[in-house]
Amino acid sequence: MRRIINPLIFSILIGILIISCQSNSEKKKVESVSTEQLAKEISENMPDQTAELVHPGKAVYTKYCLTCHQADGSGVPGMHPPLGPGSWTGNDPKELIAIMMKGLSGKIEVNGEIYKSFMPSHAQLTDQEIADVLTYIRISFGNSFEPVDAELVKKVRSGR
Ligand code: HEC
Repeated sequence: MRRIINPLIFSILIGILIISCQSNSEKKKVESVSTEQLAKEISENMPDQTAELVHPGKAVYTKYCLTCHQADGSGVPGMHPPLGPGSWTGNDPKELIAIMMKGLSGKIEVNGEIYKSFMPSHAQLTDQEIADVLTYIRISFGNSFEPVDAELVKKVRSGR
């Protein structure tokens, strides 16, 4: 009896092993969706506020922009301009990308306030990070503008 059952149990175990390996590799496939794809899906399919909370650009914003423009994008009066409705955030994406590349200085007007301050270049960020952070500010702080594509960042960066 033993000799008959053992191979049977053995093959069942092998079967289970193969099935669990397959479902593992499927899980990996799901996890390896690109951030670009994820950002696109989030901004297309989720209500604005949820998208704002989970968008990958939020991490970039928190690390590189928050100290000056504040967590809610309200800026600091007389020093750092706000990024909410009426600011430059809804301007042509190429203009925003250029600000990321070169920084910004000199007298500007945002929402009727004059700023004569200095923003450093963020050209060290990757095309994807710049696309993500600009998309993030364009769907956050009460804004609702089209996302920015990493391909466009690449074009502006290379002067095309
Ligand atoms: C060191 C502070 C500082 C950091 C960091 C910074 N900014 Fe700025 N930003 C400024 C200042 C100051 C201006 C206005 C410059 C002027 O007065 O000419 C500005 C202007 C802007 C503008 C155009 C004006 C407006 O308010 O719409 C945008 C858009 C912007 N910043 C986005 C960002 C993003 C996105 C990041 C992060 C990747 C960032 N900034 C990081 C200080 C900063």
